[in-house]
Amino acid sequence: MTKHLPNGVKQDSPATMPPTPTYPHPMRVLSVLSLKGGVGKTSVTLGLASAAHASGLRTLVIDLDPQANSTVVLDPQRVQFTSNDVLADGRSGIMEQAIVRSGWGDNISLVASERALEHRAVPEGDGNVRLRVTMQGLEGYDLILIDTPPALGELTRNALTASDQGLVVTEPSLFALQGAQQALDAMSIIRDTNLRLQVAGIVVNRVRPTSSEHRYRMAELALAYGDMLWQPPLPDRAVLQQAAGACTPVHAWRTQAGREVARIFDTYLELVLAAQVEPKPLRPVS
Ligand SMILES: Nc1ncnc2c1ncn2[C@@H]1O[C@H](COP(=O)(O)OP(=O)(O)OP(=O)(O)O)[C@@H](O)[C@H]1O
Ligand SMILES: [Mg+2]
Repeated sequence: MTKHLPNGVKQDSPATMPPTPTYPHPMRVLSVLSLKGGVGKTSVTLGLASAAHASGLRTLVIDLDPQANSTVVLDPQRVQFTSNDVLADGRSGIMEQAIVRSGWGDNISLVASERALEHRAVPEGDGNVRLRVTMQGLEGYDLILIDTPPALGELTRNALTASDQGLVVTEPSLFALQGAQQALDAMSIIRDTNLRLQVAGIVVNRVRPTSSEHRYRMAELALAYGDMLWQPPLPDRAVLQQAAGACTPVHAWRTQAGREVARIFDTYLELVLAAQVEPKPLRPVS
């Protein structure tokens, strides 16, 4: 069987090729964001990529964080251009040229990041559309995931302007409510110009049900956000660190904790795919 890879190359499928997805759906772009650093944006992005990989979905991860954590874990072989180069160039459709195959396999591609992205000033005056313009004409993917930096600044706003869905990640801590609310507020501002943007939901990460503080914060979040909280919450599991450290999808970890976390990300992926998105490719914002 001949398969069309995301980069347009045709390749004969070996017997080990992941299964074809069983549900038809339009390409969708999801940004993962949070106000605070270290709450699990990259882990959730990679967990979703891992679930997509296991389902055989053609997936592109755009690393828009200068820390380049997703890039490291996705382990690409040779990176020529990064998201920093793409934003510096800014031309319509230029992102295609920065896409590389990840070390996870053919169906997970990557636009890598680099430290220099930190100093990239994305012009404010352009309505945050710069990234979106560079993504024009992208096709051949079921899912595009954007990992964002730990701030709601211009990189995150560019990510949201290019997205169909925004997924907020938070921890069950004192500032969880405030952080989640600020991320939701940032999305509602972007929605003024990007009408496609929907709130995918809120993932509460690193939950320890034995902690009374966590139970209290979970109840507080449930009261404020109800159904927006994705169930089940993501528990605190070292396997997420182990999988990232080994540059592998968490679905490759056949331990009890690995299977538990993989099942949760499968559920999350279903939630992403269940949302209705406009079946049109990205177009410039007029
Ligand atoms: N559920 C979890 N259980 C255990 N460790 C976790 C969990 N989620 C994240 N971690 C670990 O916490 C650290 C921070 O997570 P991660 O890098 O995903 O956060 P982030 O929000 O992307 O951070 P940054 O804002 O710096 O980009 C990592 O070492 C990660 O492996
Ligand atoms: Mg990160």
